[in-house]
Amino acid sequence: MSHGATRREVLMWALGSHALVRTLLAQEALAAPVRTEVQAWAARTAQLCADVKGRKLEPREWQRQVEELFARVPLTDLLRAIDFNQLRPGISLPEDRADAVRAPFPHVEGMPRQFGTKIFGMQQGRAIVPHGHQNMASMHVVLAGEFHLRHFERVDEQPGHLLLRPSIDRTSRAGDLSSISDQRDNVHWLVATKGPAYTFDLIVVGLEPDRGFDWRMEHVDIDGAERRKDGTLRARRIDFDEAIRLYGKH
Ligand SMILES: [Fe+2]
Repeated sequence: MSHGATRREVLMWALGSHALVRTLLAQEALAAPVRTEVQAWAARTAQLCADVKGRKLEPREWQRQVEELFARVPLTDLLRAIDFNQLRPGISLPEDRADAVRAPFPHVEGMPRQFGTKIFGMQQGRAIVPHGHQNMASMHVVLAGEFHLRHFERVDEQPGHLLLRPSIDRTSRAGDLSSISDQRDNVHWLVATKGPAYTFDLIVVGLEPDRGFDWRMEHVDIDGAERRKDGTLRARRIDFDEAIRLYGKH
C-alpha cells in the first residue's frame, strides 16, 4: 500500500498546508514519528470529509484524494490505528452474509468528525451484496483476505430497475482501495474469494442536505440483469432480504 514511499514522504504529503498538523509535527516529530504521521493522515482524512460534507469538494474529487491519501498509508499503521487486531475476534462471521462493527479512528484535536468508520468481515464465499447508494460517499480498504471486486456506474434509473455500466472488475487484496459516490462507481459488490476477509470503510453521508434523507442503499440483481446492446445492464431493484438470499453466500 505504501508503494515504496518513506514515512517521511507520506508525512510530508499528508501534511499539505494544514497548520495544526505542522504544529503537531514540530512538537512531536522527534519523539514519536509514527504517531505524528498517523495524526497527519487522520487530520487530512477529517479535512477531506469535512470538505465534501461542506460542499467545498465534489464527491468524485473526495474519492480521488482520499484514495490517494490512503494509498500512501502503510497498512500496518492503518490496522493499528483502527485497533483491527483487538476488534477482529468480535466480528462475527455469519453463514450467509457479511457482518460489520464500528471502528475507532484517531481523533485529531480541533477537527470535526463528519464521517463514520466501520470494519466489515466475512467468511470465504460470502459477500457484500450488490448495491448502489444515494447521497453518500465511501472508501474501502481491504485489510485481509481477497475479494472479487465489481463496480458499476449508475447510468439511469427506472421505478423497478437501475441502468448500470460495468466500471471495475478485478481481484482486490490487502491494501487495495475502492470508493463510491453518486458521481462515480456508484454500485459495488465484493465477494470474498479468500477468507476470512475484511474491509475498512470510511463513510460520509448527507452530502446534499436538501434531498430530505441522509443516505440510501438500493440493492440490485446483477446476475439476472438484462444485458443490452450498448453494454449497459438493466438490473432489477431487489430488497435486502432477497439480496442476501441471492448473493450473501456463493
Ligand atoms: Fe456500499
